[in-house]
Amino acid sequence: MLQHQQIDELLDSTDISDSYKKKPLKKNIAKDIDFKIEIPKYHEIFTNFGKKHVLQNLPPETARDISLRVAGLLKPIAFPDSITDIFSQEIGGLNFIHPVGLAAGFDKDGVAGLAMFQSGISAIELGTVTPYPQKGNASPRLFRLKEDKAIINRMGFNNAGLVHMVSRLHKLNNRKKPHQIIGINIGKNKTGEIADYLTCFKQTAHLVDYITINISSPNTPNLRDLQTPDMIQKLVSDCKNHAVQHNITAPIFLKLAPDLELSDIKILAKSLLKLQNILSGLILTNTTIARPELISKHKNQQGGLSGAPLFDISTDILKQFARETEMQIPIIGVGGISNGLQAYQKIKAGASLLQIYTAMIYQSNYLPAHILNDMAEYIKQDGYSHISQAVGAEL
Ligand SMILES: Cc1cc2nc3c(=O)[nH]c(=O)nc-3n(C[C@H](O)[C@H](O)[C@H](O)COP(=O)(O)O)c2cc1C
Repeated sequence: MLQHQQIDELLDSTDISDSYKKKPLKKNIAKDIDFKIEIPKYHEIFTNFGKKHVLQNLPPETARDISLRVAGLLKPIAFPDSITDIFSQEIGGLNFIHPVGLAAGFDKDGVAGLAMFQSGISAIELGTVTPYPQKGNASPRLFRLKEDKAIINRMGFNNAGLVHMVSRLHKLNNRKKPHQIIGINIGKNKTGEIADYLTCFKQTAHLVDYITINISSPNTPNLRDLQTPDMIQKLVSDCKNHAVQHNITAPIFLKLAPDLELSDIKILAKSLLKLQNILSGLILTNTTIARPELISKHKNQQGGLSGAPLFDISTDILKQFARETEMQIPIIGVGGISNGLQAYQKIKAGASLLQIYTAMIYQSNYLPAHILNDMAEYIKQDGYSHISQAVGAEL
């Protein structure tokens, strides 16, 4: 078992210059890819009607709460056997049956839990959880920008706290199937300390498949200031030290913001490469505080912007990190994905896995299945036989 000192040695011994071994991107002769997820059509029409005519007319938070509570009514997606031939990948020691997961903040308290898997996602990231329950910012704090296919939120880590989350995780673990991956996104209370991250890690890491250290939400004052090499090294190595002492194998991911300059990215990438033995992935990105051209009346609301206008911004950041880290750290691409083509663009920009959020609000509940069907076609058109061959193909 690794001890503190060994972790320090691991950190010291990682030489960036040696670490550059770009994955060869082999083009295989296209195998006949026989892949199609059958989407329950009547069910889709019925649930989408409810979403369009009932939920979209309710206040956004009420609509989200209701949709989480009725998620179990969705007819579950059945994956064809060929899913593993094309889409399954091992990242951070975990077997992801396919790359499309649900991003953090959708089910902050694990209310819907396993029901969200019925839409066809492979993984769900619960949270952000903070040590103590907190109400978050005052309402209104969640705005639909329908015309822009976007959302602005300034929720501020509203969540029921660690004690509640731990009891939810115990329940979910008793029922979940082996291919259903559950991660937890950890943060700090508004008036909390850096130590909040370790507190959350200690209580949850043995109960989940992976842990995301989130230092990128724009709605907790000064949280993004933690995006420095020193703070990242401290947060990741403190968590890893605890993990190795307690035989916890769950990989650690780090979620970053899209509002970073190339000069910041270069500095961060250098230090992230030194952590690659203890950091299993980067989640890129969270919401943006930038305001690209928007038309909706809510465009000037304060908070983080997600959805369609975030796609280009977050994909650029993803590409820059993939280049600067020389594809040595797996990336989970998130931000503005709303169809199979955009999902595939993130993959070609260097993402191994993907997450979606805002498009699930505006589109079919079976969006993950639609994305997979379309991506299987693009993989075939490009002459690949497995998604991993497309990762970073357009860097
Ligand atoms: C209402 C809302 C709440 C969110 N809450 C969290 C959160 O608690 N923690 C987190 O890391 N990201 C949170 N996010 C960010 C998403 O996980 C994701 O990074 C972002 O929305 C970009 O993806 P999208 O364009 O597909 O929505 C939230 C996003 C929204 C819209």
